[in-house]
Amino acid sequence: MRIDIVTIFPEFFDVLDLSLLGKARQSGLIELGVHNLRDHTHDRHHSVDDTPYGGGAGMVMKPEPWGASLDAILGTDPDPATTDPATTGMPIAADDGPILIFPSPAGDQFTQAMARELSLEQHLIFGCGRYEGIDQRVVDHYSQRGRVRLVSLGDYVLNGGEVAVMAMIEAIGRLIPGVVGNPLSLVEESHEDGLLEYPSYTKPASWRGLDVPPVLLSGNHGAISIWRRQQQIERTERVRPDLLPRTI
Ligand code: ADE
Repeated sequence: MRIDIVTIFPEFFDVLDLSLLGKARQSGLIELGVHNLRDHTHDRHHSVDDTPYGGGAGMVMKPEPWGASLDAILGTDPDPATTDPATTGMPIAADDGPILIFPSPAGDQFTQAMARELSLEQHLIFGCGRYEGIDQRVVDHYSQRGRVRLVSLGDYVLNGGEVAVMAMIEAIGRLIPGVVGNPLSLVEESHEDGLLEYPSYTKPASWRGLDVPPVLLSGNHGAISIWRRQQQIERTERVRPDLLPRTI
């Protein structure tokens, strides 16, 4: 999968060199491009924002640097010097082009199901907004040219899209075949079957007066499966009853 990120804080994504995603990049499973939005400004101060039309608090991100940056990634920049060779000529079409994702508290809720769906894509482009958001015409323009999604991490407000994009890339990236060593470990996780995960234990069998549940030491795999399922249901009922199927 190819992932491009547009941001005014490219260093933020240095952590993608680490851990499983870092390895996935080294092995070529994930190809990453991080682009500084300010490279597409032409004024002395490299400004990316301006005051909102109609008044109001805060600043809004200007459309021009976004247009130039996204066009360069999409290979539609008239200047070949700023065109990414990895994506040159890539069509931006209704169903099979890249998906352009803008993290936003006003977007669709990001879920495990969405992560799974996005993990099947060839090319994702993330646009990290800051301040009061990006001029609406950027979303409107690229929606006319291809697939665009506004995605929210949850019902709270972050200072910008970078943290949300990191979370999404981690959730999506680990679902790409080969990124997580043992694919079975993905199957038994929270949210994969609509329930929260069961509690896990390792050695020692007793720690600070707390014992591992005896069934896990029994060697009886049937009993262990049943216990784990019960724990999942109990935990989900207690913590996230909204996830359980409705009976009425
Ligand atoms: N940007 C600011 N807040 C956000 C949120 N909750 N989710 C995604 N992007 C955001």
